[in-house]
Amino acid sequence: MDSLDSFWMPFTPNRAFKAKPKLLAQASGMYYTSHDGRQILDATSGLWCVNAGHGRRQIVEAIQKQAAVMDFAPTFNMGHPLAFEFTEKLSGIMPFDLKRIFLTNSGSEAADTALKIALAYQRMRGQGAKTRLIGRERAYHGVGFGGISVGGIVRNRMTFGTLLTGVDHLPHTHGLPENLFSKGEPEHGADLADALERIVALHDASTIAAVIVEPVAGSTGVLVPPKGYLQRLRTICDKHDILLIFDEVITGFGRLGAAFGADWFGVRPDMICMAKGITNAAVPMGAVAVSNRIHDTFMQASETPIELFHGYTYSGHPLACAAGIATLDIYAEDGLFARAASLAEYWQDAIHSLRDARHVIDIRNLGLVGGIELEPRPGAATARALEVFDRCYDKGLLIRVTGDIIALSPPLIVEKDQIDTMVAIIRDALQDTP
Ligand SMILES: Cc1ncc(COP(=O)(O)O)c(C=O)c1O
Repeated sequence: MDSLDSFWMPFTPNRAFKAKPKLLAQASGMYYTSHDGRQILDATSGLWCVNAGHGRRQIVEAIQKQAAVMDFAPTFNMGHPLAFEFTEKLSGIMPFDLKRIFLTNSGSEAADTALKIALAYQRMRGQGAKTRLIGRERAYHGVGFGGISVGGIVRNRMTFGTLLTGVDHLPHTHGLPENLFSKGEPEHGADLADALERIVALHDASTIAAVIVEPVAGSTGVLVPPKGYLQRLRTICDKHDILLIFDEVITGFGRLGAAFGADWFGVRPDMICMAKGITNAAVPMGAVAVSNRIHDTFMQASETPIELFHGYTYSGHPLACAAGIATLDIYAEDGLFARAASLAEYWQDAIHSLRDARHVIDIRNLGLVGGIELEPRPGAATARALEVFDRCYDKGLLIRVTGDIIALSPPLIVEKDQIDTMVAIIRDALQDTP
């Protein structure tokens, strides 16, 4: 490799990275191998996505085979069997009546697709004034204009103009002092969902199409919803005829110890966005699962032959479908969602054992997700966490940091001794960091 100049890296301090690059060269099971030949234990499933562990033979072979049989086929007004086979299989694990699948290539596209379906659905059923979209503070729904509009991360929004109009935000669910060091769902704060009533009172329900939330907000530092919060959101949405969209790009595919967050919380959304674990990240893919009711409205009420003017060249790409089928087979054959559930308590105890570690001011968890919040260094927010990240990497552990929060999400194949190793390295790294 001659130069690092050409690749403008995403969500990266390019200048700092290129001065001290970290390059990964191989991956297998729970480990990456760095370009200088070190084994790096993966505590983040790559980027919350390699849920079945790296380099799964079944997935590799499925992709190789499909690449040789048919590299690409369009899905606009044409089809190929794998896209139908894959969505049929995926539909089989979707909760409630979310059985109709629209395919995208990423989580960002899934979020934008769901928002567009919500708007088109309202119009299709004669509720064309319902155009407002409600997101939440500290939400991440990818980087499309729809996603950043309903998202709640100021730096992802502030430099990109006025974004979508007619968007409002719920308050985030974090920060109640009585919820510090909660194990699993925090006890307090279900009433934060009542903010939706205030938004309805302000704008009127007749103008609101949909609410979108992550069941557990991942990217802004593992914000687990208070007990009863999501149920309450559902009730308020029902009361005012508002769609509820769950963005499960992170919480999908076993991360919480059930197929989807909707299963885990027992709350029925009208749509689920997914990506990442859908193909174990081996080929990019995303999807939106839509309730039969929404889908059927399009099929019955559309006045144009094409019911939804939306789609991507690569919606249902053959390689992604092949990877997706193999991935769903692995999840089922290895019982990985149940495995995540059975490890959740061990995981909880392990990461909460860091309560007395240096700089730690909060810890939270659900399923195989963990967030460890550090006291920010005065006048230098994020600096401490970034140093901890570097130290962990030097000690052979890949973690993820967001702000001053360590966010952990190991592959669902993780062993207990590997969880112990993760916790020990993080403790050491915290200790060594001023
Ligand atoms: C909840 C959520 N939605 C959407 C996205 C965006 O996905 P992608 O990066 O595949 O576009 C992410 C990525 O982390 C996410 O966590």
